[in-house]
Amino acid sequence: MIKTIISILLIVAFIVAIGGGIHLYNVAQKNKYEMSKYTLAVKPNVKTGRTLVIYYSLSGYTKAIAEKIAAITKADLYEITTAEEIEVNAAFYVKARQQLHSKQYPELAGKIPSFAKYDTIFVGGPVWWYAPATPLLAFLEKADFKGKKVVPFSTQGSNYGSFFVDFERMAKNARLRPAASFNNISDKYSVELNNKIISWVNSIR
Ligand SMILES: Cc1cc2nc3c(=O)[nH]c(=O)nc-3n(C[C@H](O)[C@H](O)[C@H](O)COP(=O)(O)O)c2cc1C
Repeated sequence: MIKTIISILLIVAFIVAIGGGIHLYNVAQKNKYEMSKYTLAVKPNVKTGRTLVIYYSLSGYTKAIAEKIAAITKADLYEITTAEEIEVNAAFYVKARQQLHSKQYPELAGKIPSFAKYDTIFVGGPVWWYAPATPLLAFLEKADFKGKKVVPFSTQGSNYGSFFVDFERMAKNARLRPAASFNNISDKYSVELNNKIISWVNSIR
């Protein structure tokens, strides 16, 4: 009798062990599949030569994108800054709109850097009122990109409006390359964002 009970217990334990093993294997396979969706990294194949990344950023999102581009392309970074510090409040939205309409852009703090030693220059900033942020327009008004490949990029909450059309009109003598825009909500997560930046950078010649 005892022998029979032990035999039954052993058989049950064996079945449970096999079932558990199959379950663990299935979970591992599923995890592997889920992870592959996030880790299928695109490999950098950067052909931008000596690269400079110029950006304007008021609240930090464009700065984060610019830093990622610079890390991938091993570029120098240049931040556009305004002479007067900007405080973001309701009144500022109205002021920015007036600046756009009157084409009276803010005074910048620094000088336009020399582009001489660069082959490719990324230039980006946030969208303000469906157009490039006014400090970026102030920079474009002063810069001359003669002989340089220029790669525009924008960041926005929802709609980049005429950002790239305005950019093209303002960027003197730029040999424009494919642009990219980044949404500060959907483009926040790092592996996918890195893949997006690397694929875009890889396409630039
Ligand atoms: C004055 C102002 C106007 C803006 N207008 C727009 C707009 O027209 N469309 C849009 O999608 N986002 C708009 N935004 C949101 C910014 O483009 C977005 O938050 C951007 O990623 C901020 O970049 P930053 O953190 O580098 O300053 C506006 C923001 C400000 C401050």
